[in-house]
Amino acid sequence: MSKNIVLIGFMGTGKSAIAKRLASFLQWKSYDIDTIIEQEQSANIPEIFATLGEERFREIETEIISRLSHRTGVIISTGGGAPTIAENMLALKRNGIIVRLTASSETILKRAGDLKSRPMLANTPDPLARIKELLNEREPHYSKADITIDTDGKSLKEVIMMIVKAVEQT
Ligand code: S3P
Repeated sequence: MSKNIVLIGFMGTGKSAIAKRLASFLQWKSYDIDTIIEQEQSANIPEIFATLGEERFREIETEIISRLSHRTGVIISTGGGAPTIAENMLALKRNGIIVRLTASSETILKRAGDLKSRPMLANTPDPLARIKELLNEREPHYSKADITIDTDGKSLKEVIMMIVKAVEQT
């Protein structure tokens, strides 16, 4: 049985882009939880937050993670808040190696782009302070990962090679 490779980490750490490139490198399938939520709800993430609220979004996220975590030999890319729900991490760990991607708060803010598409960062006067606050809050959850890889100043290719090497040694 091949374990899944599960990417976790804050927004803007490159999870979705790296999952796609890693999938094509390993010739594995990849699943992006946010994309599946958007497809199944026929709405984008800010719309889902606006109409259903964060709590309902988290329930949908947990249900999809539970479904996908039964697979083996796939890459799963999660939304930044998913690890804060203990049930999600337990499900993902069962069949998966958890790889946490990190970046500095400043890099995260730069990569976040238009904050309207980021409900957890929208409507705040100081997005950098909000990023730091959320990173602090989430640290105990993110630190449950098996592997941590810092993406600051690295190319996608470099990060992918680091993940492949670290997973092989696990
Ligand atoms: C969230 C991160 C987003 C998305 C939603 C909530 C969070 O995913 O799931 O906006 O709570 O950090 P990305 O990390 O893929 O941007």
